[in-house]
Amino acid sequence: MVPVEKNKEYEVEIVDNGFEGEGIAKISDFTIFIPGAIKGERCKILIVKVNKTFAFGKLLEVCTKSKYRVEVDCATYKRCGGCSLRHIQYEETLKLKRDMVQNLVTKTLNTKINVKDTIGMQEPFHYRNKLQYPVGYDKTNKPVMGVYANRTHEIIPVESCLIQNKEAEEVAKAVFEFIKENKITVYNEQTRKGAIRHIIVRIGARTNEIMCILVTNEEKIEKENELVDAISKKFPQVKTIVKNINKKNTNVILGDTNVILSGNGYIYDKLGEYTFKISPMSFYQTNPIQTEVLYQKAIAFAKLDKDDILCDLYCGIGTIGIFASSKVKQVYGIEIVEEAVEAARENAKINKVDNIEFIAGDVEKAFKELVETRGVKPTAIIVDPPRRGLDTTTISKILEIAVDKFVYVSCNPATMVRDLKMLEEKYEVKEMQPVDMFPFTSHVECCSVLYLKN
Ligand SMILES: C[S@@+](CC[C@H](N)C(=O)[O-])C[C@H]1O[C@@H](n2cnc3c(N)ncnc32)[C@H](O)[C@@H]1O
Repeated sequence: MVPVEKNKEYEVEIVDNGFEGEGIAKISDFTIFIPGAIKGERCKILIVKVNKTFAFGKLLEVCTKSKYRVEVDCATYKRCGGCSLRHIQYEETLKLKRDMVQNLVTKTLNTKINVKDTIGMQEPFHYRNKLQYPVGYDKTNKPVMGVYANRTHEIIPVESCLIQNKEAEEVAKAVFEFIKENKITVYNEQTRKGAIRHIIVRIGARTNEIMCILVTNEEKIEKENELVDAISKKFPQVKTIVKNINKKNTNVILGDTNVILSGNGYIYDKLGEYTFKISPMSFYQTNPIQTEVLYQKAIAFAKLDKDDILCDLYCGIGTIGIFASSKVKQVYGIEIVEEAVEAARENAKINKVDNIEFIAGDVEKAFKELVETRGVKPTAIIVDPPRRGLDTTTISKILEIAVDKFVYVSCNPATMVRDLKMLEEKYEVKEMQPVDMFPFTSHVECCSVLYLKN
């Protein structure tokens, strides 16, 4: 029998923190998740949802505070849900993230390795190089730009976001002001009418070059040229403005068509000693400072040498492969987004890297083809898949070809550990290093190294 009732208050001890940083309490062994509560605290809660095996509670009062609780410094924190760990001291969030990965390892893997301490940031603020704010109408039918309230499509205005790049935010605000002043229509999700759906701003943190993307539901934006002129004049660092047309009734932000309104349609950024071209559709890590840390770790873990044939699977615009190119004989990068592959090829040229080849395709097929049809014999593999992790065909292929060095970079430790469990058939997991790419959010990036057994 479920020992708690909806809409009833309880006083509980927080015994742990869950995967999204939420507090976990037990009443007669029944689990209650409480966002905003910290392990070690005693809290008054209101039960808001009850399932068969667990319930959700709303934090009403913290009776005994954790020594790690801090004043929240963000006005939209409670509703936005982006930085779900803002109420916890930064150093402690790093420990929480490490423990989260350790729990997964201990539960799932045969090798009970000790996960390393999370590498944090010196200044965990304004680290994002990509801002994407939805635009729509508020409850009073006024245009609004901001962030979606947690788990809803209501847009709450954002004055200043503590994790966004400040300049990028200024550009977004100026675009939105222009939209309001000139009565350019904004998108209404219910009627599916109105033009502007999202304002996206990408910035090269090292080059200071800015790309602005206006995601629109209509082919033509009213006063489009005036908007471009005003923004380019006010912000000379805006190197390109792109109109992205998305008429679909979908949560996917970008549509398939890009129209360049000013500049070349791309910007450059630098990582380490390399320059990278970034285009609207390509994936580029959002925290450039920690990206360098992550790549250096991944490459050091791989212990690459001059004879190595390295495969960089899910290579995006070729960043990891290019970073590693000087250490190995040859690199092959595989990536599904054509535009990213084109950028990767150009990035290799820009950086005068000539021992790298990029292949456009689904890793599931293209990697198999590379090995079976072309007879390429990789000696090292670095994978950096999207959140869903690796597919089983690729895992089987990695097991079959049994490379000496295998590094798994992941933004989702749960799927990473799931995949590593299968790879344990032939590999031993040696090290696991969490890197804090997304400070104050519950996300954690992780890098693991595996060596072939025997
Ligand atoms: C987490 S990103 C990593 C990109 C790159 N390694 C980096 O650090 O910037 C994952 C990449 O995998 C690509 N991708 C997703 N599914 C894929 C698939 N089935 N085959 C090949 N690439 C895929 C995405 O487009 C994205 O560029």
